[in-house]
Amino acid sequence: MKEDIPALSLHFFTQTLEIAPGAKRLFSFLKDTDEIPQNDPKVKSHAVKVFKMTCESAIQLREKGEVASGSTLKYLASAHLHKGIVGSHFEVVKEALLRTVEKGVGEKWCEDMKGAWSEAYDQLAAAIQAEMNKEA
Ligand code: HEM
Repeated sequence: MKEDIPALSLHFFTQTLEIAPGAKRLFSFLKDTDEIPQNDPKVKSHAVKVFKMTCESAIQLREKGEVASGSTLKYLASAHLHKGIVGSHFEVVKEALLRTVEKGVGEKWCEDMKGAWSEAYDQLAAAIQAEMNKEA
């Protein structure tokens, strides 16, 4: 997947907006354009952060049985709270993420892999939302 980050990032946002067109207005780099900008570092940045943090969440779950709490989670919670992100948005991003990983891994995609990515994302999303609820 690493070799195809720009295309997969674009796919991630295309999927997000296909599932929830209204999400466009939430992103500063999408709200004033009709098309998702190609090769925009900001497009890549959000997609890569969601991919990477979900992978880190999987490692933490395996090593400690839970997603590590701390300043990163607090910062993420605060950033998303201020952007008006709510619980239902996390489901949209989960579906977009799963579709993107499926495209990225191709034939190797299977139910076990889907389960592992889902579990890692769900735990991370729950941890961010728990911090959001504390701050709200
Ligand atoms: C910004 C990660 C889920 C919408 C960010 C930032 C990070 C991040 C690291 C940059 C914060 C900053 O420096 O300002 C994640 C992770 C997620 C997640 C790891 C899930 C596990 C979501 C969801 C939405 C969302 C569900 C809703 C559609 C946004 C928006 C921004 C943002 C709108 C600001 C982007 C901009 O306009 O520049 N996210 N995010 N994120 N995120 Fe997420």
